[in-house]
Amino acid sequence: MSTPDYRHLLSSALAGLIPRGVEFSTGPIPESVDFDYEREADCLKTAGEYRKCEFIGGRECVRAALEALGFPRGPILPNADGVPVWPDGTIAAISHSRGYCAAIAAKSSDYSALGLDLEKTDRLSPAAIERTVHPGEQSFVQGEQKKASLIFCAKEAFYKAQFPLWQTHANFHDLELAVDIASGELTVRNMAERFPGELRALADQIRFRFSYVEDFVISVCWLKCRD
Ligand SMILES: CC(C)(COP(=O)(O)OP(=O)(O)OC[C@H]1O[C@@H](n2cnc3c(N)ncnc32)[C@H](O)[C@@H]1OP(=O)(O)O)[C@@H](O)C(=O)NCCC(=O)NCCS
Repeated sequence: MSTPDYRHLLSSALAGLIPRGVEFSTGPIPESVDFDYEREADCLKTAGEYRKCEFIGGRECVRAALEALGFPRGPILPNADGVPVWPDGTIAAISHSRGYCAAIAAKSSDYSALGLDLEKTDRLSPAAIERTVHPGEQSFVQGEQKKASLIFCAKEAFYKAQFPLWQTHANFHDLELAVDIASGELTVRNMAERFPGELRALADQIRFRFSYVEDFVISVCWLKCRD
């Protein structure tokens, strides 16, 4: 059986998930290390070969998404928490998984938070499913790895969206999501008090969309700036 054209499939899926004003790019993780910028290479001096390739692939995707928004290419360095420092006026998110990477980007005047996650759907062990799924999500998941992977993926996208603004280190059980398979959307049902009041007050404005792509699941999470 031939391998699916994941890049094409992931691109088509992402195009259908992102809201207006968000650009995206996907790509394979390169097979060899070839940094675009010395300053980025300096940040990964002690990293292993695969991590370097993953970083390079993610940076390539996010630079393409930023270029599509009209921003010039340039180095994107991580801060002390590992969060990329986006060019002024922009906000973005990167994910890599099993040979592929993707990024989304928008103007920070349009979106205050963006998250993206890409996961394989066949990797969570029963113990990991237990750690990921909130008791209130169990009636949806019913022990199924594919559904638990969606919950995991959406929570990782949410974590990446909130962290740059609120720096909250949260566990998976601190967030309870409701899934609407028919619309491909999730909503926040509950956020633990660990999250700051400002973020909890925005819970019903946090939007999620997801898609299954062969044996991947991809989730996008965003918070629009107030009009
Ligand atoms: C940081 C974390 C979200 C990364 O997710 P991952 O699935 O392991 O890896 P991905 O490839 O999808 O994403 C990695 C990218 O996310 C970005 N990133 C890393 N840390 C981040 C953070 N704290 N906030 C926002 N983005 C972050 C980076 O761009 C990174 O890629 P890069 O280092 O090449 O630039 C994850 O490792 C983590 O620590 N999660 C915390 C637990 C959690 O998610 N709980 C859910 C609570 S609701």
